Amino acid sequence: FLSRFSGIKMKQRLDYRNKIILAPMVRVGTLPMRLLALEMGAQIVYTEELVDLKLIKSIRRPNPALGTVDFVDPSDGTIIFRTCALETSQLVLQLGTSDAARALAVGKLVQHDIAGLDINMGCPKEFSIKGGMGAALLSQPDKAAHILSTLCSELDIPVTCKIRILPDTLDTINLVKKLAATGIAAIGIHARTRDERPTHRPHPDVLRAVASAVDIPIVANGGSRYIRCYEDIHKFQQDCGAHSVMVARAAQLNVSIFRKEGLLLVDEVIEKYLRLCVDYDNAPHNTKYCVQSILSGLQETPRGKRFLQCQTLQQICEIWNLGDYCRRRNQELKELGNCGRALVTP
Ligand code: FNR
Repeated sequence: FLSRFSGIKMKQRLDYRNKIILAPMVRVGTLPMRLLALEMGAQIVYTEELVDLKLIKSIRRPNPALGTVDFVDPSDGTIIFRTCALETSQLVLQLGTSDAARALAVGKLVQHDIAGLDINMGCPKEFSIKGGMGAALLSQPDKAAHILSTLCSELDIPVTCKIRILPDTLDTINLVKKLAATGIAAIGIHARTRDERPTHRPHPDVLRAVASAVDIPIVANGGSRYIRCYEDIHKFQQDCGAHSVMVARAAQLNVSIFRKEGLLLVDEVIEKYLRLCVDYDNAPHNTKYCVQSILSGLQETPRGKRFLQCQTLQQICEIWNLGDYCRRRNQELKELGNCGRALVTP
């Protein structure tokens, strides 16, 4: 109503139902991979987890040469988060936090450049737990709920969280009910407990029980062990009785898992990915990490070994016959006066 009569442009609120989603992944979920996931068919993409203490001190800096918006650490110029308009309406930023006020400050800083904010409540890594973040919040439901209700009432974008199941199904249902009451738009649930590793079987039956006990959309996660093709994504979603589904490792290995038409060959995926890395001046070590994940076993081939020696984006591009593409783009960026430094993730 407002937008039609007052000329105010209102953002459409992100809907978390019937979506296939790129899950948050540290180092993997940077701009080039998110854009490629969208191109392949993902409907929502999550950033890697970004820690509140880092983002809170960053400065928002549009980068006209690249067509991006960069959040830059003023002390050393490091780019903490890079995004662009192509992904804004489908982008969820995942935050690592243990504090409502800090999370809110970050939310206010980034909310115009994203479509949703997610709080990580499932990470079992020592770094997160020690800082009271990630899975530490699973055992502090009051604190978790306070963070979410603060964000829901103060921000203009939908807020979600990503949890793991608890050892007891009824406890999981009660936790989800408590978190749902804060006003969150959806909840991502990794179908494993905090102590279970990716090699353990997930528990779709627990997600099914949760989904039938609450009203908010459930985003199922943890199925990559069984996801070999696009249809398997839907199968996992159905097994969980979930509204949507979020894929991590299967997408890290081959992001074309999101393609309805079927998987692309590894070389084709790498070529598409590298073009985006060149377009958006992605940091060589981040690029290398992601290409390494895609290559996986192929690193042992002569070409794989040559790749492992690479230190620059130019060197990596030469291996996939994109040397000229990289050189031309570098020249173009020089002329445009690209002011951003290559993306550096922690
Ligand atoms: C992850 N995961 C993860 N989870 C999260 O909430 N925030 C994060 O930043 C990360 N980072 C991350 C990096 C990498 C390389 C991997 C493989 C995983 C966990 C991930 O989102 C997901 O919950 C699990 O991998 C289970 O889902 P899949 O892999 O079975 O689809």
